[in-house]
Amino acid sequence: MSTALCPGSFDPPTNGHVDVIKRCLSIFDHVVVAIVANPFKSALFDSTERSAMLEELFEDESDRLEIHAFSGLLVDFARERKVDVIVKGLRAVSDFEYELQMAQMNESLAGINTLFLPTNPKYGYLSSSLVKEVARLGGSVEGLVPPLVVSALKERYA
Ligand code: PNS
Repeated sequence: MSTALCPGSFDPPTNGHVDVIKRCLSIFDHVVVAIVANPFKSALFDSTERSAMLEELFEDESDRLEIHAFSGLLVDFARERKVDVIVKGLRAVSDFEYELQMAQMNESLAGINTLFLPTNPKYGYLSSSLVKEVARLGGSVEGLVPPLVVSALKERYA
């Protein structure tokens, strides 16, 4: 059985994240989504809220997908869960440099490989940070994030 690990901040999950996770589900038998509990920047949603959003978004796949918050090194979590590979979405060349560094560090720390999936071009400009900024300033984020995230953002910035 092949297991992929999709790590991220998911603050909040965007349609780009959903697309990458769905594509992982079409390639791998099992997918573990790892939500970093304490991202570098202070989070708008705590890890329980981010987990709950992802659980709801993927409730139909709950037999093949698990969602966990983690703290500490990603490679330690990856070892614990016995995943085969880390999968990261790449939006643009600007993502590549940092992602390559992390992939190489993770490989050197634990021998775990990272696969990059090119993001669907329709989500190429999307990021959780920009979505939060647009929502905070009263813009529409419909079509950028799933409807339940639209509602959560409206509530948070009300
Ligand atoms: O969605 P993001 O913010 O791009 O996700 C980044 C994430 C969570 C994958 C990365 O920051 C991470 O792996 N953090 C855990 C701590 C760790 O292992 N750091 C060393 C990375 S080489």
